[in-house]
Amino acid sequence: MQTALILEILEVAEKAAIAAAAYNGRGDKHTADQVATEAMREAFNAISFAGRIVIGEGERDEAPMLFIGEQVGSGWLDSTEPIEQYDIAVDPLEGTNLCAYNRPNALTTIAVAPRGTLLYAPDTYMWKLAAGAAAAATAATGALHIDNQPSDNIAAVASALAKPVSEVNVCILKRDRHNDLIAAVRATGARIRLIDDGDVFGAIATAVPGTGIDLYMGSGGAPEGVLAATGLKAIGGFLMGRLDFSLDKDGVEKRQRAKTLSQVDLDSPLLMNDLVGTDDAVFIACGVTDGEMLAGVHIDTSGSISTSSVIMNAADSSVRFVRTIRRGSSGVIGF
Ligand code: FBP
Repeated sequence: MQTALILEILEVAEKAAIAAAAYNGRGDKHTADQVATEAMREAFNAISFAGRIVIGEGERDEAPMLFIGEQVGSGWLDSTEPIEQYDIAVDPLEGTNLCAYNRPNALTTIAVAPRGTLLYAPDTYMWKLAAGAAAAATAATGALHIDNQPSDNIAAVASALAKPVSEVNVCILKRDRHNDLIAAVRATGARIRLIDDGDVFGAIATAVPGTGIDLYMGSGGAPEGVLAATGLKAIGGFLMGRLDFSLDKDGVEKRQRAKTLSQVDLDSPLLMNDLVGTDDAVFIACGVTDGEMLAGVHIDTSGSISTSSVIMNAADSSVRFVRTIRRGSSGVIGF
């Protein structure tokens, strides 16, 4: 993927984060999500490229913006020649409550890859197991597997990281449905980082030094699984998923619908290549609230706006942390 296009899409994530950040701590997750979505859509449509939303805000009839199948980018109109097309997965505000209550790690997230390579993930739940590069190497042996007992997966990560099980830090979403999982992890003696929301961060953090998270386990949104897998593919990490329609109140209908649309067996473990079927994928996140991986949006008294983002590019195995400052009307860089 062209670097220029990647930088233009970085700007899309930044603009969505700036829009959402106006609602940090204001207790209104719907408006925060809405303004992020509007800003993201407008910014995408200012780029001369041809993108199609594969993971977005919902189906056409339930989401007026960034719905699944929506074409974004002016390239569809500009060009008379056939042009390269891209799959786009977005969560314009990942962690709407995190933003509304000013808690860490609310992000805007985007994954981009050539057309037909990102999994159409039904809007249901997915059990996820994610780890960083050192542990990923053991996945090929089956030592790390979504169907293993938690104790076996924790032991595999401990061994890969050359640390005792008691020092392995497992990130889990705080949900009642995870009570048994939490008890099983506690029984091993490992540490647990319980998060209120935001499992794209939770999964990707396993591969980012300094977050203190070694392993992610538990169920969350399936679309978020594809976004996290894109970042982990670029950064050399590992994510295995398993769809679970039974956790969803509309699971029966969603499963029926997914059967007709899905490129994968809905009952099998989903491997990295099922989720992201290319090495030419890019994951971009921009911080909305401050967190361990990215700082949030900050505006200083001169009006300068600072954003912190990460670009994870599977094509060249690069990870770029980008801080952008947009100067305010006084022209001063205030940071
Ligand atoms: P939103 O950004 O839509 O608020 O989702 C946040 C999130 O925590 C995701 O990170 C996670 O995958 C999902 O919700 C979990 O869903 P649930 O809250 O239903 O357990």
